[in-house]
Amino acid sequence: MTSSAPAAAPDSYYERHIFFCLNQRGNGEASCADHPAQAGFDRCKQQVKAAGLSGPGRVRVNKAGCLDRCAGGPVAVVYPEAVWYTFVDMDDIDEIVDSHLKNGQVVERLVLPPDVGR
Ligand code: FES
Repeated sequence: MTSSAPAAAPDSYYERHIFFCLNQRGNGEASCADHPAQAGFDRCKQQVKAAGLSGPGRVRVNKAGCLDRCAGGPVAVVYPEAVWYTFVDMDDIDEIVDSHLKNGQVVERLVLPPDVGR
């Protein structure tokens, strides 16, 4: 299921910016790196580029350190809408790219619940 996301601010350098946590925490604590975080990041970069979405005024895909929502890992967040996602496999990444990054439609089924923290 999808819903519309608000449009980016007109002076935003990127229309949308997605950050993937790739962090590995110590002491056996929940970490995004325990899941396919790197694979998701790589897939997203590949799909954004293949779709011709990358570059100024369009979409940027970046790595991030811990975003402090580790229990929901792997996590990614899309700005300017500040929509947080969790994902399981590369089909989920493809859906985020096609639906949200390309068309501005939030992928509701992958949205991280608001109470998920560290
Ligand atoms: S390890 Fe990914 S949010 Fe903390």
